[in-house]
Amino acid sequence: MKKEDVRKHFENKFGKEPGLVYASPGRINLIGEHTDYNGGFVFPGAIDKGMIAEIRPNGTDRVKAYAIDLDEHAEFGLTEAEAPKANWARYIFGVCREMNKRGVEVKGFDTAFAGDVPLGAGMSSSAALESTYAFAINELFADGKIDKFELAKVGQATEHNYVGVNCGIMDQFASIFGKAGSLIRLDCRSLEYEYFPFDPKGYKLVLLDSVVKHELASSAYNKRRESCETAVAAIQKNHPHVEFLRDATMEMLEDVKTKISEEDFMRAEYVIEEIQRVLDVCDALEIADYKTVGQKMYETHHGMSKLYEVSCDELDFLNDCAKESGVCGSRVMGGGFGGCTINLVKDELYENFISKTIAAYKEKFGREPKVYDVVIGDGARRLA
Ligand code: GLA
Repeated sequence: MKKEDVRKHFENKFGKEPGLVYASPGRINLIGEHTDYNGGFVFPGAIDKGMIAEIRPNGTDRVKAYAIDLDEHAEFGLTEAEAPKANWARYIFGVCREMNKRGVEVKGFDTAFAGDVPLGAGMSSSAALESTYAFAINELFADGKIDKFELAKVGQATEHNYVGVNCGIMDQFASIFGKAGSLIRLDCRSLEYEYFPFDPKGYKLVLLDSVVKHELASSAYNKRRESCETAVAAIQKNHPHVEFLRDATMEMLEDVKTKISEEDFMRAEYVIEEIQRVLDVCDALEIADYKTVGQKMYETHHGMSKLYEVSCDELDFLNDCAKESGVCGSRVMGGGFGGCTINLVKDELYENFISKTIAAYKEKFGREPKVYDVVIGDGARRLA
């Protein structure tokens, strides 16, 4: 949906006087999955798809929100006791509350929003929504005084405190800091980051959406995080300086093998290896060594499937299809349990890979995967 369409809907619902229009993107992640909450590295980029919202302060202490895509309304006050019921409205409410906790006097507003990030496809539609409102509220009610990292943390805290997902910082960071044409390597411990221009000559980056949505994804996600914390606590007994799995080595983990469950061991093993893979991929990219980039992506998929256990039959199948078609790199992207694979594909293999995979997937699962060509776009901004 374009900003003109959002404006039309806003005008229909809330009258002629225009508000300001803001947008924030979803994200991809080339490599570095489930590493963010372990103090490790991630390597995301914003995409050219996201959320657009028009917002106008309404002089009251209530928010009136309209979700254009769902054709649903919600109205809520801004105190903790007035949380709305609708899932999507809780994101907006959560952002208002988190901004308020940071000293911003958020007032009532009218708003309509729409998105073109597919929901639940692992491209972080929720971070796009949070970042849109965090960015807008910062401009409208705080003269822009909250810095960009804090805006990303507002989105993350919204997930923790109002949605129930103990996520890391990657999605909101990418949505706020994204830059067209660049991926960003973020050190999630120090929060240092570096832009890497990404234009792999002769290759395309394409997402294949399994169209699987796992209902229990958030509790399974939180459980993975607990496993990592258990492993850290065990390692800490021998190595007090280890604060995150980022600080641990495989030797340290081996030393506590009998002290933790097999499952927790596997989770931690995956994370320790994955953190190193991000660094390896960045090094490989700098010398245009796409073979290594691709190989690391396959290793990540294997780890996410067999050690971290956040893949599913459909995603494993898509990964196998990529391998069989000779695709350079492929893996499940994002939190897992459904959503997309991200594929680095040589131009000349692209058509064949896509058509063969769609046909094979349809035959096996009775429905077609969706195909999204990735364009790396800009982060949160005001459009009008
Ligand atoms: C979700 C979370 C992120 C990150 C990824 C996995 O997208 O929101 O913080 O942990 O999963 O890398």
